[in-house]
Amino acid sequence: MRVGFIQNDPVFGSVRHNLDAALEILSGMQADLVVLPELFATGYQFTGPEEARDLGEPIPGGPTTEALIEAARANRQFLVAGLPEIDEGIVYNSAVIVGPEGYVGKYRKAHLFDTEKEVFQPGNLPLKVFDLGGVRVGVMICFDWRFPETARVLALQGAEIIAHPANLVLAHCPQAMITRCLENRVFAITADRVGKEERVPGHALRFMGQSQVVDPDGNVLYRASIERPENHVIEIDPEQSRNKYLNPRNQLFEDRREDLYRID
Ligand code: ACM
Repeated sequence: MRVGFIQNDPVFGSVRHNLDAALEILSGMQADLVVLPELFATGYQFTGPEEARDLGEPIPGGPTTEALIEAARANRQFLVAGLPEIDEGIVYNSAVIVGPEGYVGKYRKAHLFDTEKEVFQPGNLPLKVFDLGGVRVGVMICFDWRFPETARVLALQGAEIIAHPANLVLAHCPQAMITRCLENRVFAITADRVGKEERVPGHALRFMGQSQVVDPDGNVLYRASIERPENHVIEIDPEQSRNKYLNPRNQLFEDRREDLYRID
């Protein structure tokens, strides 16, 4: 299976421009699954909920989702991409999952970071694993990495790959994702962005790139640069994540001591 990511540098609010740039790249990517960053076509730093509502789109049915569906059909790819979702006037920091047959599903970011709490509502959908052409893919968004339960719940549901759209501003995430993969013996594809936004004066954000693909043994198969937009495709065998044995005596999930994990 060929998996990849796009690491972009979107211009805030120029959705059509950012989307077209991504579509152009996708058409040249020979990949079965491509992950795009969190909020990949809008940019990240909304000044408030009104702005997010203006740029929010229904999932499915919005123009970004429709364009991604068209690309997925044309390129025979599955895509996971972050965008602001509006549903009954409420805006979520969401990811859409589409494929050659059209819309597959969505995920709403559960753990909002910092000022996102003033812009979005926290996700209210269960953590879910999607069957993408016979491969089980769980989705989480950026700061969800800081809560190990997120990846664990996806892995316990059978995720072989975790698709992780991100806009990273905290330095530890690329390394922490290695641990998430080791804890669960899963692959993870983190798609980040680069560049800087300072739409709120005095609150500059620098995004740290380093999009990456990590395997179930914690090997970083590829890590992108800190400052350049780029895209990358790599061959993986998802089957590798189905074996949860570390050695003949330790099976990661069977060895869990749920009896000791309870808090009374
Ligand atoms: C983040 O969750 N985008 C930092």
